[in-house]
Amino acid sequence: MKDAGVVITKRHDVIEMTEAASSSRAAKMAQEPTAQAAKRAKLLLLSSAKGGSTKTTTARNLAVAAAHAGLRVATIDLDLQATLTNWWQKRPDEAPAILHYQVPIQESEAALDEAVAANNLDIIIVDTPPGVENHPVAMRSLIRRADFVLMPTTQGGPDLDSVIEWSRTVKREGRPSAFLLSRTKRAAKSFSEAKQRLIKYGSLCPFDVRDLEDIQRTHYNGLGIIEVRGAPGRDDFEGVWAYVARELELGDG
Ligand SMILES: Nc1ncnc2c1ncn2[C@@H]1O[C@H](COP(=O)(O)OP(=O)(O)OP(=O)(O)O)[C@@H](O)[C@H]1O
Ligand SMILES: [Mg+2]
Repeated sequence: MKDAGVVITKRHDVIEMTEAASSSRAAKMAQEPTAQAAKRAKLLLLSSAKGGSTKTTTARNLAVAAAHAGLRVATIDLDLQATLTNWWQKRPDEAPAILHYQVPIQESEAALDEAVAANNLDIIIVDTPPGVENHPVAMRSLIRRADFVLMPTTQGGPDLDSVIEWSRTVKREGRPSAFLLSRTKRAAKSFSEAKQRLIKYGSLCPFDVRDLEDIQRTHYNGLGIIEVRGAPGRDDFEGVWAYVARELELGDG
């Protein structure tokens, strides 16, 4: 491992991905099944209407946390900008494996079906593009399939307006969901105001993710923040993962 600050706890063999629904995706995967391999894969959907609300950053960090928890994890990038895919391509081979698909949102159903059928997964994490209102049919069916919808938002007023509005759409589909406050500035008054506002409209993840340079930087090295020794922000995502894992009934408890 070139990066001295990186903690890698396990090594997995990398295998080639089989042919599947889209030609534009790539994949690698650990071969050893986990204890939970026989269970149905849980689907975690990262979704909010506003661009830049940290969907992708949250998706990749939760995928890393899941992989370190020994789960078989896949990510699906539905954004043509391919930010998650670009990160995944940089992921070191010696890091715990994450299977990855990149497909247009219109093909998300097929990609999900294939991921579920082919890979004996524990969890599938789906990153959605901004402008979800442009894909109402695909988004509705994704929400319906989701075991949990996590809706990240910053603490800024327009972002809160947007995610609260979006949460109404999510709730109409009757799936469990929660807001996640991200890129937070805890010292600002708007932080507690945002918490108080969001909690009126739905569940709120009890852990927030602070606005931290180290988190931003992991886009360039294919790592999750929990893999960077001593980095601030590890606790933030460990907390978010603990919450999400419990909501998905993937935890120890
Ligand atoms: N906790 C954080 N601290 C600092 N920067 C962050 C944090 N989380 C995300 N960012 C940065 O904020 C920007 C937006 O994050 P991200 O790309 O994850 O949002 P997104 O919702 O996926 O955006 P889009 O809607 O465009 O896909 C990126 O530059 C990212 O590096
Ligand atoms: Mg994104």
